[in-house]
Amino acid sequence: MPDRGGFPHFMLKEIYEQARGVRDTVQPRLSPEGDRVVLPGIGLTDEDFRRIRRIKIAASGTSRHAGLAGHYMIEQLARVPVDVDHASEFAYRHPMLGADELVVAITQSGETADTLAALREAKSRGAKTIAIANVIDSTIAREADGVLYTYAGREVSIASTKAFTAQLAVLYLLAVYLAQVREAVTKDDLKRLIADVAAVPAKIETVLNVDFACRELAHKFDRARDFLFLGRGVHYAAALDGALKLKEVTYIHAEGYPAGEMKHGPNALIDEALPVVILVSRDPNDPESVLRYEKTLSNLREVKARSGRVIALAAEDDADVRESADHVLPIPPAPELLLPILEIVPLQLLAYHIAVRRGLDVDKPRNLAKAVLVE
Ligand code: AGP
Repeated sequence: MPDRGGFPHFMLKEIYEQARGVRDTVQPRLSPEGDRVVLPGIGLTDEDFRRIRRIKIAASGTSRHAGLAGHYMIEQLARVPVDVDHASEFAYRHPMLGADELVVAITQSGETADTLAALREAKSRGAKTIAIANVIDSTIAREADGVLYTYAGREVSIASTKAFTAQLAVLYLLAVYLAQVREAVTKDDLKRLIADVAAVPAKIETVLNVDFACRELAHKFDRARDFLFLGRGVHYAAALDGALKLKEVTYIHAEGYPAGEMKHGPNALIDEALPVVILVSRDPNDPESVLRYEKTLSNLREVKARSGRVIALAAEDDADVRESADHVLPIPPAPELLLPILEIVPLQLLAYHIAVRRGLDVDKPRNLAKAVLVE
């Protein structure tokens, strides 16, 4: 059993290992000149990738949330349509698949029975398959046609943290690689996209500075009965995983929701007892990111207008958010598609500190297993 390296819990240790996990996952896949992504062991030829007509992602829990972010990355950068399924549903819904479809099975453990069943279903229907796995030589990694390993290192805590950020990074690389072989981006764009992901580990080091602020927030919110996590676009994936982390380690009911959906029902839940975490960071140089930000900011104001208690994840210098939110956790600037890698860190820390305050077994929450070996 690895040691906790001086940390009180594996979860906190693994949260602090994320910069290294993303660096070790990304660096080996970048050409020395920084102008190409190289994916050795992927098991498909460039010609295969050019012929791919549709991608289906099948996964469970946190790995599926990574898949949801991958959906935005691949469609936006490579212009290939993507569907994301709960592996447990995919395996039994008779998916319509063919040789020009790629099924990506995402998994930390590589042993999750639902995801393995989905992979076998995809293979039996003639689709090409790749696995994104964190455990080397695991069953799913071996059975897929090709594998893209995340190098987050061994993850002991049942709540997945460093594997998630490494999955987001490797999905971004897969999206850039697809764009590269399908010539969906220019050479200059390619260099910029590669420089962007190479800069992420240092930004993770910076965002870890919110640890103390998250511990303070835990004092205020450790008695909450429910939590809502809101985000739009690729941020919705991080909102979902923030809610899952809180559920897993604190046993507090929590839901991740697309911010634009609130007015279609969940607004009824809002009152002064409901903490609402809103992911409202942005890439100021990206007009689409700014547009999505403005819509999320108005959702934030709607929550405040109904007396909700708002914890916002936003740029340090964002006066509009500071004016409306009760608490702000600063997120360093980054390109839109990479912001969820930074946003999930304070959500992991908030869940961790609330679990510690509630005196719970942070690394081994009740009723859960690190690898779910039964369907
Ligand atoms: C995440 O914190 C949970 N432990 C759980 O949802 C997990 O992501 C799910 O069981 C999938 O596991 P896998 O990534 O090992 O396949």
